[in-house]
Amino acid sequence: MNPVVLEAKNIVRDYHLSGGLFNKARTVHAVKGVSFSVEKGKTLAIVGESGCGKSTLARIITLIDPATSGDLLIDGNKIDIGKTALTPEMRRKVQIVFQNPYGSLNPRQKIGDVLGEPLLINTGVPADERRERAMQMLLKVGLEEKHYNRYPHMFSGGQRQRIAIARALMLNPSLLVLDEPVSALDLSVQAQVLNLLADLQDEFQLTYVFISHDLSVVRYIADEVMVMYYGEAVEYGPRDTVFSDPQHSYTKTLFAATPRADVASIKARLEKKKAA
Ligand SMILES: Nc1ncnc2c1ncn2[C@@H]1O[C@H](COP(=O)(O)OP(=O)(O)OP(=O)(O)O)[C@@H](O)[C@H]1O
Ligand SMILES: [Mg+2]
Repeated sequence: MNPVVLEAKNIVRDYHLSGGLFNKARTVHAVKGVSFSVEKGKTLAIVGESGCGKSTLARIITLIDPATSGDLLIDGNKIDIGKTALTPEMRRKVQIVFQNPYGSLNPRQKIGDVLGEPLLINTGVPADERRERAMQMLLKVGLEEKHYNRYPHMFSGGQRQRIAIARALMLNPSLLVLDEPVSALDLSVQAQVLNLLADLQDEFQLTYVFISHDLSVVRYIADEVMVMYYGEAVEYGPRDTVFSDPQHSYTKTLFAATPRADVASIKARLEKKKAA
């Protein structure tokens, strides 16, 4: 068994909404006691319909937002998730990639600086080495040296997502959380980015939590699957078990309603093209 990178125990997140002129104060129970763990080099996919708490959970495990209660262990170290004062070392360990990378890329910053910035802020690495490492990462994610001096608007959506992935990897995180990373991309570009993620995982033994509402993507990328429904994990286990024998009525309906549109077949096609 590989070492466990992330362990989440009984995570709860309530949002307290203060009332307004027309509505009373109320509490949204966004995540209701969810537990899971991810081993090094593996992918846990979290799937479920809009509003079921996926992004809330993503923000908690990437230490962006505190949980209301529960325990979080990263590389076996317990995190005080009720507090926001975390050491830079803890923050370095978990990185996130969002659905829309454009929102998180500074339009006035050249790509080379986007990639060098995590090193600048978090390490004492000198400028020439920052440049060297940014350049290497650019190539790793399938971009080119000439892209180093370009601005975010000069890239396609798929390329921008490659940049976001590259930036997330600059500090060698233990865990990468991907919140709907390919949902905004065309199907063929989706397949390319998914292939890139799979290649990077193989090469660097990366550990992913991959959030998606697309079952064909989940089937392709996941080792384990957790299905969420109204803040609860209603299904959790190895991919093939969950797909072949769903237990919960929500999962059965979800699976029955989804056509098996096929990232896998697109991947096969791309590979055939590459070989030809
Ligand atoms: N900052 C917030 N304040 C109040 N309520 C929130 C906040 N963030 C999320 N919620 C609520 O918590 C619940 C879970 O939201 P969340 O964004 O985690 O869902 P999701 O599964 O990521 O949905 P989607 O698939 O649409 O991205 C929703 O009812 C949402 O309205
Ligand atoms: Mg979300």
